[in-house]
Amino acid sequence: MTTRFALRVAVILAFGIGTGWALTAADKPGPDKAAVERTREQILMLDDLYKTAVVGISQTYAAQQFDTPAAVVAGAVFDAMKKKGWHAARLVDATGKPKRKDNIADTPFEKKAIEAIQGGKKYFEEIGEANGKPVLRAATIVPAVLKQCASCHNVKEGDLLGAIVYEVPIK
Ligand code: HEC
Repeated sequence: MTTRFALRVAVILAFGIGTGWALTAADKPGPDKAAVERTREQILMLDDLYKTAVVGISQTYAAQQFDTPAAVVAGAVFDAMKKKGWHAARLVDATGKPKRKDNIADTPFEKKAIEAIQGGKKYFEEIGEANGKPVLRAATIVPAVLKQCASCHNVKEGDLLGAIVYEVPIK
């Protein structure tokens, strides 16, 4: 083997390994940008729908709320949507004193999102994977928008209570 040939092999090998690494790390093609944008729009639409419904229920059935708060109704809708395979959504606490312990931030994303929201962010998202498929995770703020929310949760009206955390497939 001539020195020149050996050198050429070495260069080709180095180049091949170099690009291979680059592809598996930084340049790994993520989900299509337009698909991410469509998923984000879907989340913002769901967010308006859920919040309008929950606040509407709270205002309309103020007295009955003491038996079943709107959060419980929201939880039932979230469960149904998940069972049907549409998306996952969850009410997560940001006060440190949740009404129910299970509502404390649990996953790494929920913890990051609650920290960001406590720091003043109104929206937080990341592109991730669930079962090998791309998903958009997002968190939107839930303040005590009504007097009822504030008095039952022992905070001031307008204070931050938590977030709705979404996980929606990117298609
Ligand atoms: C009568 C009491 C009551 C009222 C009024 C009420 N909630 Fe709650 N809220 C609860 C209870 C109980 C839970 C726990 C429900 C569960 O997870 O099963 C809860 C859960 C939550 C959570 C999840 C974190 C936690 O504390 O467990 C958020 C966020 C929340 N409510 C926001 C609101 C908002 C916003 C309003 C007003 C639109 C509101 N709540 C009105 C009783 C109330």
